[in-house]
Amino acid sequence: MSDVAQDFLVSTHLLFGWGASGRTASLVQDLGTRCFIVTTAGTTHRTNLLRGLMDELELVGCACSVFDRVTPNPTVSEMEEARTMALDFGADVILGVGGGSSLDTAKAVSLGVTHGGPLWDYRIGGSRSVNGSMLPVVTVNTTAGTGSQVSPVAVFTNEDTHSKMAIVDRKLCPAFGVIDPALTLSVPPRVTAATGFDVFAHAFESIIHVNHSPLVDRLAWDTLGLVAQYLPRAVAQGDDQAAREAMAIADTWAGICITNVGTVLPHGIAMAVGGQVSTVMHGEALAAVYPAVLRYSCSAVVEPLARLYEILEAALSLPLKDTLLSAVDKARRCPDLIELFLQRIGLPDRLSQLGLSEDLIDPIVRGTFQLPDYRNNPRVPTHSELMQLLEASFRV
Ligand SMILES: [Fe+2]
Repeated sequence: MSDVAQDFLVSTHLLFGWGASGRTASLVQDLGTRCFIVTTAGTTHRTNLLRGLMDELELVGCACSVFDRVTPNPTVSEMEEARTMALDFGADVILGVGGGSSLDTAKAVSLGVTHGGPLWDYRIGGSRSVNGSMLPVVTVNTTAGTGSQVSPVAVFTNEDTHSKMAIVDRKLCPAFGVIDPALTLSVPPRVTAATGFDVFAHAFESIIHVNHSPLVDRLAWDTLGLVAQYLPRAVAQGDDQAAREAMAIADTWAGICITNVGTVLPHGIAMAVGGQVSTVMHGEALAAVYPAVLRYSCSAVVEPLARLYEILEAALSLPLKDTLLSAVDKARRCPDLIELFLQRIGLPDRLSQLGLSEDLIDPIVRGTFQLPDYRNNPRVPTHSELMQLLEASFRV
């Protein structure tokens, strides 16, 4: 029950379905004539997808310029470089193509072109705010993970201070989000698992967030059901179309969940980990701390954990079903099932498995406390409790 009126924002026009990316050029055409494309570093530039998109944009009379140097944890400096390029090109529409990093960079470029830099000043708690209109952003996501196609968030890392932060403003929501499950068929297992577990985390953290909303809760529980059932299939067999479509839906729903509620302690820690070690994928950092955070938070979220236990128990097809367990027992055992689920999809369940040194515990604690997520956790950790939690997440 909620006694507080709550907003529910879905401001992106979505185009969902197999082959949907074939309509991207016509969507862009309606928004501008000079399209600045933001995409992932490396081979993406040479993919059929990008070539096809550029050919189609040319056919409809759109000039294109491409920034293809986005990295998995995009840095402030690469976003500034993209912003300068977009300004020089005279872009009037931004197209983000790729995973969450490309989509987030596209949003940041749109902000930087219209509002000026430095972009770091627009981070949560920064000195500047989004106060005017931005260039329209169209997204074509090629992974099922961050929900960036519907969210008002752009995450970036300051490589000088090792801080991973976010810009959050509803004007960052893309104008159009093209969601084509076909584009995810070739995503390798490790990336599928990491991005898919991010979906899981978005949904579950929306549920246990202190400001959770009944409008979001139902969406989030359905999302968790999809992830539990289909993520292991998508990891095991990348060309499983039903699994890929389910994860594309789950990713989008989870993006709507965090847009309207937010994330809690695991995301705060995972952001701090990413700020310290840029090579760790966001979803892997989440996985590595999830069991420890759930054990720490258990007493404050018995009902959600008990319900999650039942979802995971069904999805994992465990041989011994104990139907007589109390809610408290299920909640206590839920972190064990999370570990089994993570093992099933090949993700780490300890920070030590990421090759990190325990020397990083101190800066990770400091980084976590710089973000608002920990304050919205159902159990708010003290400094020493967070130290102990992280130490636990290093132990086998
Ligand atoms: Fe996330």
